[in-house]
Amino acid sequence: MQLRGKTAFITGAASGIGLAIAEKCAAEGMKLLIADIAADALAAAAEALRASGAEVATYRLDVSDLDTYRAVAEAVLAEHGAPFLLVNNAGVAWKAPASAATPEDWRWTVSVNILGVGYGLSLFVPAMIASGEQGYVVNTASVTGLITSPGTSAVYAATKHAVLAISETLAHELRPHGLHVAVLCPGSVATNITDADRNLPDHVSHDGLTSAEESERAFTRQFVGNGLPPAAVADQLFAALAERRFYVITHPEYREEIETRHRQIEAAIRGEPASDVGLLAMAKQILN
Ligand code: NAI
Repeated sequence: MQLRGKTAFITGAASGIGLAIAEKCAAEGMKLLIADIAADALAAAAEALRASGAEVATYRLDVSDLDTYRAVAEAVLAEHGAPFLLVNNAGVAWKAPASAATPEDWRWTVSVNILGVGYGLSLFVPAMIASGEQGYVVNTASVTGLITSPGTSAVYAATKHAVLAISETLAHELRPHGLHVAVLCPGSVATNITDADRNLPDHVSHDGLTSAEESERAFTRQFVGNGLPPAAVADQLFAALAERRFYVITHPEYREEIETRHRQIEAAIRGEPASDVGLLAMAKQILN
């Protein structure tokens, strides 16, 4: 995989997994086009990446805002051509089991986590195909795109299952063009995701968290804080890209839950009662 001198466009690149992917791209000698909604964090990330010797352009971007995204994509294509590596990574995780989610919770999470990915594909993939380069598209889903558990946010899980479906279909479509698609499905990674509401847009009303939600967040923060370092996730992603693997599953500890789900589906197809513990009994914490 020859990456030196090639261009990477990465969303949500000011923090966490996106920043770690940007650092990895920089280490590979790629030209970085990094986008994020958080202007200050984006500037700080760019400064650090430049200090490491990378060539970096920044784009202030809310991936759920189509007009802005269109303008950013036009600027990118005009100045740098089609990206060789497109990473649709920006995402938000938010409280809200299905029974408690407000319409705004749904709208915000769906618009960032699903539409943000869709817009990235619509705006860049045709140019990537036209470039004739054998590049890569990476979509960040989650292990929550593969399984759920009782504590899972239904809103978040819905969006990550959608990212998985988008990625699978896209992989079929792009294979004839020589473009490789990978879907990143991490478990817990020590990032700032627990405070995703720092980027809540003004139009989403926010009454603050109840005390129960505050203590749930404290628990989640600790759980996520004990997760894999983002750099380890980026390393695994690049190893997978080098081998042109599609599913990038960074947390093998979820294997049993994933297999249980698949066995239950297979049993249902055969018309047999599921012999495994039920899906709802899968008690392992997932959260992200
Ligand atoms: P993070 O909060 O550290 O980084 C997310 C970045 O996305 C931030 O820089 C934020 O400013 C940016 N962002 C948020 N909304 C945006 C928008 N509308 N437009 C553009 N940029 C926006 O969180 P993390 O963990 O690095 O999240 C990256 C991706 O990884 C997300 O898609 C998340 O769902 C996924 N993920 C995270 C896991 C974890 O445990 N941290 C596990 C599985 C998946």
